[in-house]
Amino acid sequence: MKIKAESTKPSNKKTPILCAFVLENSNEPLGLGKIHEKINSSIKESIKETKGKVGEISIIQTLGITPANKILIAGLGPKNKLSTDVLRNVTGKIAQKVRSLGLSEFSIVIPIGFPIDSDSSISAVVEGTMLSLYSFDKFKKEKSEKSPDLSILVSNSQNAQKVILQAQIVSEGTLFARDTANLPPNECSPSTLASIAKSLSFKNKLKCKIFSKNELKQKKFGGISAVGQGSKNEPKLIILEHNKGRRGDKPVVIVGKAVTFDTGGISLKPGDKMDEMKFDKCGGCTVLGIMKAVSELKLPINVVGIIPSVENMPSGESYRPGDIIRLYSGKTAEILNTDAEGRLILADALSYGIKQYSPKSIIDFATLTGACIVALGNNIAGLVSNDQKLAEKIKSSSEKTSEELWQLPINDDYMDMIKSNVADMKNVGMGRAAGTITAAAFLANAVDNTPWAHMDIAGTAWAQDATKKKFYNPKGATGFGVRLILDYLRTL
Ligand code: BES
Ligand code: MG
Ligand code: ZN
Repeated sequence: MKIKAESTKPSNKKTPILCAFVLENSNEPLGLGKIHEKINSSIKESIKETKGKVGEISIIQTLGITPANKILIAGLGPKNKLSTDVLRNVTGKIAQKVRSLGLSEFSIVIPIGFPIDSDSSISAVVEGTMLSLYSFDKFKKEKSEKSPDLSILVSNSQNAQKVILQAQIVSEGTLFARDTANLPPNECSPSTLASIAKSLSFKNKLKCKIFSKNELKQKKFGGISAVGQGSKNEPKLIILEHNKGRRGDKPVVIVGKAVTFDTGGISLKPGDKMDEMKFDKCGGCTVLGIMKAVSELKLPINVVGIIPSVENMPSGESYRPGDIIRLYSGKTAEILNTDAEGRLILADALSYGIKQYSPKSIIDFATLTGACIVALGNNIAGLVSNDQKLAEKIKSSSEKTSEELWQLPINDDYMDMIKSNVADMKNVGMGRAAGTITAAAFLANAVDNTPWAHMDIAGTAWAQDATKKKFYNPKGATGFGVRLILDYLRTL
């Protein structure tokens, strides 16, 4: 799919379909200008019907009267509710409509004086288009229709071209995260993930290190080794480095949980929806998407991605409830439930990231707790942090990108809830109380004083029953967190 900016006047644009927006209760589309009397009156007529309600689309046939074959008007809803996310979503609907009509190209008008600033509007249109036209059809004979090309009609097309390119990179990062996360567990083991990371590192000139099962054992990654020992698909630790900052500048380290399939292990999960546990690698896939985009954007900073990857299986070799293991940090953990595996592999990865890189901040993504879905549902991820400054910066990126977060508290009372009688910690809290926070408390033990932000994406990593329908988040993995953290990294 090609996307380009043009400063062509909309009325002169030769295109299969010319698309413009209209605000609710306005009688004129934004920026379309004078087209032709007959067409203008048809447009007015159709706006009377749709009233510019959000997501309402009407299509006018121009019968050869204008250079555009069709004109599409899309409602944006009321002006006081307009946001980049509304624009992203409505653009997604337009793009899907254009694709279903089998058109090869569409043009979208972003007028001067549009209520959202030009750069944000352009990014939202690019993201809305690319993210909504995604479909995972690697395993289907019948592929989805070809994606149409897009021309964005703006006043300053030179600056727009740069903004488009960056938004394309960000969107491609998200799509890469989705494509990897959507792989079924029989086609994506920890070593598959490691090969995916390796080939990304070749293409994008990232430094890449993979630790094998034996190296993990030898280097005392007790959490990753324990969780990984039950599967014949051996565990891996994947490390990607982007070193484009000043030499010696402390990096930002980004860690992502990648359990390629979570059966629960000996504490076996019930069968209902167990298939969805192929998405338990989404945190790691988000990190891959971020590293891909960071390198393509050539951000002048140092960023390290760390992905602990295992398959959590029950077998004769599995770790068990009752085991006491020693984590990379040297602290011991009593295992009370083998299904609380994410915190064990993450704790190792976080401690390693801090020891190896002394980062200025460490950020992790994980489909960590079902409790997070109980607390926040499927549209908002949980945020837990030991550093309010970092938390505020990430929240501000969250507002800009509409990848929503809600911060949960953490203090010594929660840390006390994971104390064990026989080890330094236990891997579960007290029953169902504050499950998301007690999981985070386990991680807090691995990061000490390094500024740290943890995002529990159990509810938001893929489209679930209670997920709000968004055109730019079609079925399957969402790639949640890629746009969010890229925004944060770009402010550094
Ligand atoms: N991967 C799951 C969490 C999860 C569940 C994510 C459902 C998305 C949807 C995690 O490994 C897990 O099983 N957590 C347990 C922890 C419990 C045993 C303390 C949970 O949430 O039940
Ligand atoms: Mg589990
Ligand atoms: Zn899990």
